[in-house]
Amino acid sequence: MKDIIVAIDGYSSCGKSTLARALAAKYHYAYVDSGAMYRAVTLFFLNENIDFSDDEQVLKALEQISIGFKFNPEADCNETYLNGMNVEYAIRDMRVSAQVSEVSKIKAVREALVQFQQEMGEHRGIVMDGRDIGTVVFPDAELKLFMTAEMSVRVQRRYLELMVKGDSITMEQVAENLRHRDHIDTTRQESPLRQAPDALVLDSTNFTEEEQLDLASRWVEERMQMKQNQVL
Ligand code: DC
Repeated sequence: MKDIIVAIDGYSSCGKSTLARALAAKYHYAYVDSGAMYRAVTLFFLNENIDFSDDEQVLKALEQISIGFKFNPEADCNETYLNGMNVEYAIRDMRVSAQVSEVSKIKAVREALVQFQQEMGEHRGIVMDGRDIGTVVFPDAELKLFMTAEMSVRVQRRYLELMVKGDSITMEQVAENLRHRDHIDTTRQESPLRQAPDALVLDSTNFTEEEQLDLASRWVEERMQMKQNQVL
């Protein structure tokens, strides 16, 4: 079968990463969590006290950042590295979550990360999730999914994730953070979160992870077949 690009976009905590990871494992594709890249840049800016509003400081900081992913067999997932350091845990804390939407609004940050993401998809065979993957990063992706879920379900999922990590946070704080990020993600000037016209919508509210994988797999295989037919 021909390798394709699967682009998964949608709001925070709708199950994008879980589905993307499962699809990548099933089809032996690379999985890239583009949100982790925006989080890694945010972590660097916070640690180095970069003033986000100062273009010169931002550009200089971007030159000093190198982001990578390495598979951790124990955790059975890819982990994010910032300048050689494993930051998978640090990029998920509330300090980063509270600022990441601000950092992802910055044009220079988006340009640098989009270029890197496009290089990673050069040979196809990749599943990438984010906010602008089907619209900006891979407008020619063979399969574009747009994921949604009811707010109450998203809050519950995110809250449980943070609890497992030992974060002390209330449901209301989680809801507030999600609402704030939705607002910034959809209203920012640079590549706002939008459903691509040719994206298929997957509302995960009433689906188990297994059901989401089954449904998406059917679409993946359909697109692989279409691509195969085009070459024959
Ligand atoms: O998927 P996530 O919640 O880890 O993403 C963190 C933030 O990064 C999110 O608030 C929006 C931003 N983001 C983006 O602007 N573009 C992407 N392709 C991925 C994430």
